[in-house]
Amino acid sequence: MVVKSELNVTLINSDFVKPLIKWAGGKRNLLKVYRNLFPKKFNKYCEPFLGSGAVFFFLKPKSAVLIDKNEELINFYEVVRDNPWELMELISTYKVDKEFYYRIREQEPSKLGKVERAVRFLYLNKTAYNGLWRVNSEGKFNVPFGRYKKVKFFERENILKASELLKKVKLICGDFEEVLKYAQKGDFVYLDPPYYPISETANFKSYTSDGFSEEDHMRVYEVFKALDNMECYVMLSNSNTSFIRQLFKEYNITEVPANRFINRKADGRGQIIELVIRNYE
Ligand SMILES: C[S@@+](CC[C@H](N)C(=O)[O-])C[C@H]1O[C@@H](n2cnc3c(N)ncnc32)[C@H](O)[C@@H]1O
Repeated sequence: MVVKSELNVTLINSDFVKPLIKWAGGKRNLLKVYRNLFPKKFNKYCEPFLGSGAVFFFLKPKSAVLIDKNEELINFYEVVRDNPWELMELISTYKVDKEFYYRIREQEPSKLGKVERAVRFLYLNKTAYNGLWRVNSEGKFNVPFGRYKKVKFFERENILKASELLKKVKLICGDFEEVLKYAQKGDFVYLDPPYYPISETANFKSYTSDGFSEEDHMRVYEVFKALDNMECYVMLSNSNTSFIRQLFKEYNITEVPANRFINRKADGRGQIIELVIRNYE
């Protein structure tokens, strides 16, 4: 079946690439709304808070710069790009049980080879409680076993398509400000930082060991402004808070209903409003 999107891109369903991992704050479920908010045309695509790359895999751009500070995540994508078959072969030998899980969790990732390190990442991502990637202040992954009975680690065709797509992009492990070195006039930059907390109990930001502070949100604003001055198309997602509304008050703010699932309190689940902020209509 062929679907025409608002983006002037023809999406063939069988060709669609799904995100390869579960990720807190992943935008997969928001694409139906977001697709109307993307610019109609742009040159290169830049995504400096990559995570599961839901927007990247949806847009399938011809050229892109993808950045994330999480070393395990970037190593995983490099292995998907360069060694997809080895990755699939090795993960297929991994067992889903508690003892095996904690053995893998204990491994020191920097001492593993690239493929084994990527397999550890994918394994923990799919078998940890709630699919959460959370590290403590020393950078040690600390999520308990998710008690799943059966886990689908990958879909072969999807991994192979992702691998092809990743061959066309520049992958960087680093801070989001690096995007300023690569973005140029006419590029589309999508910024999806860890959200500004809506309350004391809803401040998940432990994707990396150093968290994400108020100063980091101000740096995001500075980067947004710099990209705007460079005449890039800039789009940002963040929480519906007065801090964020005030910080970005000169820009175009759209309210978007979202289902939020990663929250410490069960009653924090459900539909909430999030913000999409753009420098274009
Ligand atoms: C909200 S998630 C992005 C979700 C993504 N849009 C998706 O669809 O899965 C935020 C990401 O920012 C990354 N991150 C945190 N601090 C960062 C920094 N200073 N620079 C770059 N990336 C950072 C985290 O590792 C995480 O993957």
